[in-house]
Amino acid sequence: MSAETHAGEGAGTHIRPAAEDAAGTAPGTGTPGAVAGGAPDATSTSYIAHFRVWRGDIDGGGLTDFEVEVHEGEVVLDIVHRLQATQAPDLAVRWNCKAGKCGSCSAEINGRPRLLCMTRMSVFERTETITITPLRAFPIVRDLVTNVSYNYAKAREVPAFVPPQDLGPGEYRMQQEDVERPQEFRKCIECFLCQDTCHVVRDHEENKQAFAGPRFLMRVAELDMHPLDAAEETGLDRKTTAQDEHGLGYCNITKCCTDVCPEHIKITDNALIPLKERAADRKYDPIVWLGNKIRRRS
Ligand code: SF4
Ligand code: SF4
Ligand code: FES
Repeated sequence: MSAETHAGEGAGTHIRPAAEDAAGTAPGTGTPGAVAGGAPDATSTSYIAHFRVWRGDIDGGGLTDFEVEVHEGEVVLDIVHRLQATQAPDLAVRWNCKAGKCGSCSAEINGRPRLLCMTRMSVFERTETITITPLRAFPIVRDLVTNVSYNYAKAREVPAFVPPQDLGPGEYRMQQEDVERPQEFRKCIECFLCQDTCHVVRDHEENKQAFAGPRFLMRVAELDMHPLDAAEETGLDRKTTAQDEHGLGYCNITKCCTDVCPEHIKITDNALIPLKERAADRKYDPIVWLGNKIRRRS
């Protein structure tokens, strides 16, 4: 996640100037075709939608109702920007790219973790009330902005790739399928929607210490399947640490993380389940068991 910070706005928090909207144009309030009062004209390309937006800070808050104009082709982030421009200039929201690539604009829309910039208004009924709330699994900073530092702490706990000792730069060789397999995981934009939706931490703050979450278990899986990773030669067994230090056992493969991933990474099927299988193979491998027993005795 990039962390663009504007002076006076708080870390990565944008307050839109009243002179521009998402498309860089003046946010009109009287566009021809916009139908007031939440009674949309099905033939019009503009309408007034009803939003409920969570406002508050660490000390508490609640949902505030707004009526906002919507134009054809807009995404929810456009509406949040129009809200800032016309009705709530101090509404805090984090965003950077508006292209689904920086992972900053994560929030919950009607209770589902989503990117504000990649959620089209056209997926909702025009008469529907759209509720926007901050990510539930992380502490509130203000309004739609949460403190996601849990994720950075977990990232730091995963030991990096260990280069092979006997090969120099330029001498690495890998099968094409070994290159392609982790490529899927490298698409991650670190939006932390998967971390937010995972029930292991979503309702259980107490699990955060022991559980890295799907995004970082996926990173462990990626490194464990890397044919050139020399971690084991340094005494680091990634399969064992996945269980003992990153909380792989907490995951009961519900696939909720996969369901919300905006990059459509098959987190559960391609990373977590294979990692669980390899960890179980390691744990119950009789040769490994015997070796460990002999090592312990000596
Ligand atoms: S599959 Fe595992 S990591 Fe993903 S949401 Fe379910 S419990 Fe969490
Ligand atoms: S795995 Fe998907 S949902 Fe999780 S942080 Fe990466 S892009 Fe976001
Ligand atoms: S603003 Fe970058 S992902 Fe939404």
